[in-house]
Amino acid sequence: MGIPIKNICCIGAGYVGGPTMTVMASKCPYLNFNVVDINKERIASWNSDNLSKLPIFEPGLKELIVKTRNRNLFFSTNIKEAIESADIIFISVNTPTKTQGLGAGKSSDLKWVEASAREVAKYSKGHTIVVEKSTLPVRTAEVIENILNSAETNSKREEISFNVLSNPEFLAEGTAIKDLENPDRVLIGGDNQKAMIALSNLYKAWVPEEKILFTNIWSSELAKLTSNAFLAQRISSINSISAICEVTGADVREVSRAIGKDTRIGSKFLDSGPGFGGSCFKKDILNLVYLAEYFDLHDVAKFWESVVEINSWHQKRITEIVVKKLFGTVANKRLIILGFAFKANTNDTRESAAIKICRDLIIEGADLIIHDPKVNPKQIEEDLQIKQFSEEEQNEKSTIKTIHGKWRFSKSLEIFEEAHAVLVLTEWEEYKHIKWDREFKKMVKPAWVFDSRSIVNAEEVQKTGINLWRLGDGSIEKEKDIFK
Ligand SMILES: NC(=O)c1ccc[n+]([C@@H]2O[C@H](COP(=O)([O-])OP(=O)(O)OC[C@H]3O[C@@H](n4cnc5c(N)ncnc54)[C@H](O)[C@@H]3O)[C@@H](O)[C@H]2O)c1
Repeated sequence: MGIPIKNICCIGAGYVGGPTMTVMASKCPYLNFNVVDINKERIASWNSDNLSKLPIFEPGLKELIVKTRNRNLFFSTNIKEAIESADIIFISVNTPTKTQGLGAGKSSDLKWVEASAREVAKYSKGHTIVVEKSTLPVRTAEVIENILNSAETNSKREEISFNVLSNPEFLAEGTAIKDLENPDRVLIGGDNQKAMIALSNLYKAWVPEEKILFTNIWSSELAKLTSNAFLAQRISSINSISAICEVTGADVREVSRAIGKDTRIGSKFLDSGPGFGGSCFKKDILNLVYLAEYFDLHDVAKFWESVVEINSWHQKRITEIVVKKLFGTVANKRLIILGFAFKANTNDTRESAAIKICRDLIIEGADLIIHDPKVNPKQIEEDLQIKQFSEEEQNEKSTIKTIHGKWRFSKSLEIFEEAHAVLVLTEWEEYKHIKWDREFKKMVKPAWVFDSRSIVNAEEVQKTGINLWRLGDGSIEKEKDIFK
């Protein structure tokens, strides 16, 4: 007989836990899903009647929340109760890079995973399948198993038992709902067939059987790290080529199109941009680097580390180009930043290229106006570690000279007045429809548009007289050389 499943618990109501359980609840209306978190504010936002207050923005999420919340999907801080009743527990907590101690700067900080495993050991009853949903270093399942089998428990030891499985999440922010509803594959790693089948039965409600892959637990953990490393490596590769395009007169869009037609390469993840961001790519590659170094595979470690290094170089390169084009200084110049999220259709700013670029420009003395349709200015303040400029404060402290520039947030796009330049950093749809002829009139001349996402209509921008710089577009540079 299979393992009976009725109640599911997910520890961690973040960018993965929230959308994943929402989709599962919509596909399995006969099961109960309890999503729990230690962050009270986050849970309150998940329970908010005002759906624009959900802690995460994902296209399609609101609609599913309306259908499932308080029907078979519940968000709460009552971790004990959710664990007690659960047959399957997904651990979906954050696993950032360690900032201090052994492995600092590379290995994952597993303190949240460990705390979750201790809570599971303490409160669980009967048999429980514990699923690693978080991205974890290879062989973490062993650590979890160890904690589950030795930590303090409320029930008698002989009355509880566990199976640990790995079921990494491959969703991409911005398309999370689509990815969860129609995944390329579902990966289940483990060594207990009954538990693996029980977990796969959840997915079978909507995922075709041939897309559900079973592996051993270590392959599953390593596959997730490798998948992110390969994706990030493609971005670093094409971004490095964009720099060559700019100096040779080639156009990176044309190069991408040409190589993407090769079925061995494929066309996805070949758009050059301001450098990869998001919470996962950098940390997962660094994890892989740590693993390789641990096993004395130093050349392997060096290979993957260079993918991260070139990403940082690339972000710095964009700032340098902006400063150079604006006659070597941006001090007191108004620059418009279009987009702060690390990509379109998400409010996530973790590791966004915009953070480094904006910080560097502010340090250079620029006066930034930052627009993003979904990111909260408080988040920008936290990311930049520089307070938003306020007129009142400026008046109060007018005698104090600031050593760097300033920034303020705008919800509206009526911000082009007196601007020297516009930087497109996130590919939000609305930036494709800016009326450049109208905005040009308001800008300081010579006016510039720096498009790091290749989304503005180049012809239209140039027709107005605005100078255009596009990432990886050497053909624009060459035209200018000819006219000199
Ligand atoms: N964000 C992505 O695109 C993505 C995609 C695939 C996999 N992942 C992986 O999934 C994991 C979660 O990522 P995320 O983006 O959802 O993180 P997140 O920071 O958005 O959410 C994690 C949540 O876990 C909660 N938490 C931490 N410790 C807890 C505890 N002991 N008990 C209860 N709640 C606790 C935090 O309060 C937070 O709300 C990470 O390992 C990440 O690498 C993320």
